[in-house]
Amino acid sequence: KKDFRRAGDFSIEEVARIMAISADLKAKLKRGEPTPLCSGMSMALLFEKPSLRTRATFDIGMFQLGGHSVYFAPSEISMGKRESVSDVAHNLERWFDIVMARTFTQKTIDELADNMSIPLINALSDEEHPCQAMADYLTLAEKLGGVDNLRGRNLTYIGDGNNICHSLIAVGAKLGVNVTISSPEGYGPAQSVLDASAGDRESTGAAYAFSHDPHEAVASADAVYTDVWASMGQEEETAKRAKLFATYQVNAELMRSAPDGALAMHDLPAHRGEEITDDVLDGPNSIAFDQAENRLHAQKGIIAFVLGVA
Ligand code: CP
Ligand code: NVA
Repeated sequence: KKDFRRAGDFSIEEVARIMAISADLKAKLKRGEPTPLCSGMSMALLFEKPSLRTRATFDIGMFQLGGHSVYFAPSEISMGKRESVSDVAHNLERWFDIVMARTFTQKTIDELADNMSIPLINALSDEEHPCQAMADYLTLAEKLGGVDNLRGRNLTYIGDGNNICHSLIAVGAKLGVNVTISSPEGYGPAQSVLDASAGDRESTGAAYAFSHDPHEAVASADAVYTDVWASMGQEEETAKRAKLFATYQVNAELMRSAPDGALAMHDLPAHRGEEITDDVLDGPNSIAFDQAENRLHAQKGIIAFVLGVA
């Protein structure tokens, strides 16, 4: 079986293939052509954290593929409390064809996947958000002239070296995108993610760079990406992080340090006035809502690929 536990799981060729399936499914949807690839199949959507985009797009995506989905809210299953993670997995595999899970720990993702014979898709953990990264690069490819044109392009991520940042690094390495990160001291990406993606950078020729100076980091950016300073589960650190990250805000002044026309990206939800200002998020170069739209198309590609129906 195929899982998507971490953004680095698929090979360079598989990532290209999924991007192509996603683009094809998007084009067919726009033409009104049905794509019942998952007819008669069911997907479980397990959430330990809130969601707008992820819940909507997996649910709609499965519907558009001819399948069915069942949503489980954070309060419903209480994995590891009401029932062990492995018992949840052993139940789900008896009814469903595929599962997506949004969890706190990456360990829960791995434990679910290890205990099921059916595919598991990580729909955000504290460490990774692989579906988001696939949607983000699909969006960038649309804006920059196709997936093949992503090689040698520069994506700069400003802010917390978190789940989003990790998955962007991993998928960027596979697509040949030069990824630059700028974070405060102690808040950069995990070394394990950099190490795991080093081989892909060698294969595709992608570069990785880090700078504590956000202005230096965006100097040659084709796109400037940011995410919240306090992620879900870190709410009690909000005030502390707001101080530490204050000079890492993506605002008009920072965008002036980037090349003219640099795109602004955000996975959403945004904390407007914190990590990003309204003028940038609502500005002419913002592609945040295109990213949100492409969550649907990217995930349909991932679902079809792991189920082996496309
Ligand atoms: N970007 C994203 O995953 O949004 P939700 O938390 O609303 O699903
Ligand atoms: N880093 C954010 C991403 C939300 C989609 C979080 O984990 O809350």
